Amino acid sequence: MDFKPYIRVIPDFPVPGIRFKDITTLLNNGEVYRAAIDELKERVKDWEIDIVAGPEARGFVIGAPLALALGVGFVPIRKSGKLPGETVEAGYDLEYGKDTLAVHKDAIKPGQRVLIADDLLATGGTIATTIKLVEQLGGEIVGASFLIELSYLDGRDKLKGARVESLVQY
Ligand code: PRP
Repeated sequence: MDFKPYIRVIPDFPVPGIRFKDITTLLNNGEVYRAAIDELKERVKDWEIDIVAGPEARGFVIGAPLALALGVGFVPIRKSGKLPGETVEAGYDLEYGKDTLAVHKDAIKPGQRVLIADDLLATGGTIATTIKLVEQLGGEIVGASFLIELSYLDGRDKLKGARVESLVQY
């Protein structure tokens, strides 16, 4: 299935020059949303995944249903200051701006095979930071799944050779 027609491109958001990929139009269509999650699952189902981790906020709307489809748990990687328990944190640069991500220290057990999931791979900063946090907890990265990949930003290069799957490329 071609998912691109369901993604709305909004020019100059959130800052001039950025062509924002709006996935709310895809999420709004239950059949297409389900088809996207099914397709992502198909591509990774043989990767022996123990758990899925996804960064706030749009990583939750891809990562959590993908985890359910795979029959494994989900680890929310949150913006700093949101998680109540003991965390590890790491700062990173975004395509536009800066942020800090955090994960509960006990969310991933050493040796667990972790799939990273997010809506979008742009510069790769978010996912590189997510990988860093997962590895700090002893998790093994088995790969990363995205709805969208902005290939021209070469985000894959930051993912240390991890397997990458994306449904739509720009
Ligand atoms: C967006 C997107 C990815 C990230 C991709 O999240 O959902 O997580 O940017 O960019 P990168 O590859 O250059 O790091 P954002 O930080 O805007 O947060 P949100 O999901 O809460 O909107």
